[in-house]
Amino acid sequence: MGSNESLVARRQAAVARGVSMMHPVFIERADNALVWDGDGRRYIDFAGGIAVLNTGHRHRRVLEAVRAQLDKVTHTCFQITGYEPYIALCERLNALAPGPGPNKTLLMTTGAEAIENAIKIARASTGRSAVISFAGGFHGRTMMALALTGKVDPYKAGFGPFPAEVYHAPFPNALHGVTVDDSFDSLAMLFKSDIAPDRVAAIVFEPVKGEGGYYIASKDFVLRLRELCDRLGILLIADEIQSGAGRTGRMFALEHYGVAADIYTLAKSLGGGFPLSAVVGRAEVMDACGPGGLGGTYAGNPVACAAALAVLDVFTQERIFERADRLGEKIGAALEALAARHTEIVEVRRLGAMNAIELGEGGDPQRPAADLTKKFTARARELGLILLSCGIYGNVIRILVPITAGDSIVDEGLALLSQAASELLSDANATVPRLRPAR
Ligand SMILES: Cc1ncc(COP(=O)(O)O)c(C=O)c1O
Repeated sequence: MGSNESLVARRQAAVARGVSMMHPVFIERADNALVWDGDGRRYIDFAGGIAVLNTGHRHRRVLEAVRAQLDKVTHTCFQITGYEPYIALCERLNALAPGPGPNKTLLMTTGAEAIENAIKIARASTGRSAVISFAGGFHGRTMMALALTGKVDPYKAGFGPFPAEVYHAPFPNALHGVTVDDSFDSLAMLFKSDIAPDRVAAIVFEPVKGEGGYYIASKDFVLRLRELCDRLGILLIADEIQSGAGRTGRMFALEHYGVAADIYTLAKSLGGGFPLSAVVGRAEVMDACGPGGLGGTYAGNPVACAAALAVLDVFTQERIFERADRLGEKIGAALEALAARHTEIVEVRRLGAMNAIELGEGGDPQRPAADLTKKFTARARELGLILLSCGIYGNVIRILVPITAGDSIVDEGLALLSQAASELLSDANATVPRLRPAR
């Protein structure tokens, strides 16, 4: 393998420009929360392959399960001839999803596919066509998922038209002055001005916005969404592709709210590094589509199913949910300490181990510090820490270190984060020179 520099040049010549490159680093080897590039440089991975590696890179138990599956069968297409790991995984997810049940599950490959299928199922089940999602949300890059996504640049720009009958409402955001009432007033207005509620199949939301900036839905908001959906016969879809699979200290983030959705989408850390997604929901809703209406050649691939079953075993054997709570607390405390030291950190957010900081110019939340955030992630990388930004203005840094990471690695990563902050952010406690009073 060549050096990062030569690989950047080959990438630029060979790979479509639309695939962005956050870090000009090419990984040759990975282990739990550490990665090494072709030049032998070691990095601490606080990005986790964008929320895919809650159980770390190449978890031993996941690899053992994958190797065993490789020696049995790697593909049949589940619609043609079945295999047991697909069924075993559906059974386990049905039992884990919040709600009274009984549940049923569909397995797919990517998060966007899970979203596409959740909408197909909601439409088939309700006989309605419209869907509502939230501004700033992210649901994937296929056409319906993009239509639901609430951020134009870079995801949607130039790619329309998108499927019709998708509407956006504001997502409550205390830091930016959007209240839960604002959001519900806007839904009420939508039902008056754009679409009758009895034409709405589903409302799709992220309990914690992922790409959109790690804004956490309040309990009040989620309870009111559930009540609205029940009153109007609308299905509630929780997109847990980023927040699910243990990241918040629960299998599903919605468990924090004591509220059940009708349909859940999962992906990312479910497969422990192998491509797999799932749509889990109430059996009568999930069974609305006729035979042949759902599926995909690679959907629910046996090797990915074996990996996911091992991931679920690791969750219990290694008490991943409790560890996520402890990890999130530790990271949260370190980020709070940084925020006390540095003016530009305008908010520290956390649900379980979904931790983030938001940066605003001069400490003003209304002046998103996107350039500073870019400099921050670049400097952290130079120091040996892979960080990931997010947010509608690109001014949020989220932390997705594997939940299995050892304390010393997490501490080392946090120290590098703190060093980047001291170099790039202002000191909140620096004494401001006072003007001499006029005589
Ligand atoms: C909440 C959410 N939904 C959907 C997706 C799309 O998943 P994928 O990239 O696997 O298609 C993502 C990816 O980041 C996500 O965070």
